[in-house]
Amino acid sequence: MSVQNTGSRLEERVALVTGALGGIGEATCKALAAGGARVIASDAHANGVDDLLASLRTLGASCAFFELDVTKRGHWEAIMPKIESEFGLLDVLVNNAGIYRFGKVESASDELLESLMQVNIRGVVLGAQFAIAQMKRRSPDLPWASMIHLSSIAGLVGSPTSSLYSMTKGAVRLFSKSLALEMAQLGYRIRSNSVHPGIIDTDMAGEVAQALSSKGLDADQIREHMRAGHPMARMGQADEIARGIRFLASDDSAFMTGAELVMDGGWTAR
Ligand SMILES: NC(=O)c1ccc[n+]([C@@H]2O[C@H](COP(=O)([O-])OP(=O)(O)OC[C@H]3O[C@@H](n4cnc5c(N)ncnc54)[C@H](O)[C@@H]3O)[C@@H](O)[C@H]2O)c1
Repeated sequence: MSVQNTGSRLEERVALVTGALGGIGEATCKALAAGGARVIASDAHANGVDDLLASLRTLGASCAFFELDVTKRGHWEAIMPKIESEFGLLDVLVNNAGIYRFGKVESASDELLESLMQVNIRGVVLGAQFAIAQMKRRSPDLPWASMIHLSSIAGLVGSPTSSLYSMTKGAVRLFSKSLALEMAQLGYRIRSNSVHPGIIDTDMAGEVAQALSSKGLDADQIREHMRAGHPMARMGQADEIARGIRFLASDDSAFMTGAELVMDGGWTAR
């Protein structure tokens, strides 16, 4: 196959992005739209949805928004048939919705533990479960469907300020790998890969900063920690992660499943 014939374009692909009104989610919707995908954005709230849909339409994408709390099975049950009837069967799922909450293990409340596990683990599993139901019915003439799950550097290496978050992101990493094997063994033609960003300049980075302030660091020290932790000496940008997600969504990554795409400015290379 010539390089020109590889499938970096996503024409006609139907892509669902969760947590689409956050930093990485919004950038991902735009990157997928720019690649020609039909984009279904979703989030637990709808603040800012008009601006997002306007930008996606400017990029020429057919798009829609659904309010979807990834932890609520009933929400998934309600929106999946709507996606199928309005757009057709799902080709791409970006399991992006996630939360960061700081808490030391010795004093973590059940509520803290539960919220992290519900959104970051159970939400990802529900997404996969509902996506499989559609993806396995796609025509065998199509390239494999693609699921992309947002893990983190916190799913690869330890950090003293993120034990509980790391637990969830480590779970996503191995869920993605095992799901890749399960899908292949079942003959479903669905790829599954995880993405591992460093610290990215989004609202979530603000939460991470708060966690660091609880260690007694001032604002300048926190900024320096977040910058200097990356050998490339800067934080990442949401669109840099979105381009990697678009690669995993596209046929340019056709032979990748059960893999990890690390985009961390070198954080985990040491
Ligand atoms: N920003 C970072 O430094 C960083 C680093 C590594 C991994 N990640 C991961 O990337 C993903 C996106 O992070 P971000 O930086 O864009 O965060 P963000 O806080 O900017 O956006 C997260 C979005 O998820 C949504 N969300 C939260 N709970 C939800 C739920 N129950 N159902 C549906 N949507 C829900 C929020 O409303 C928000 O729009 C997350 O999974 C995060 O863990 C982020």
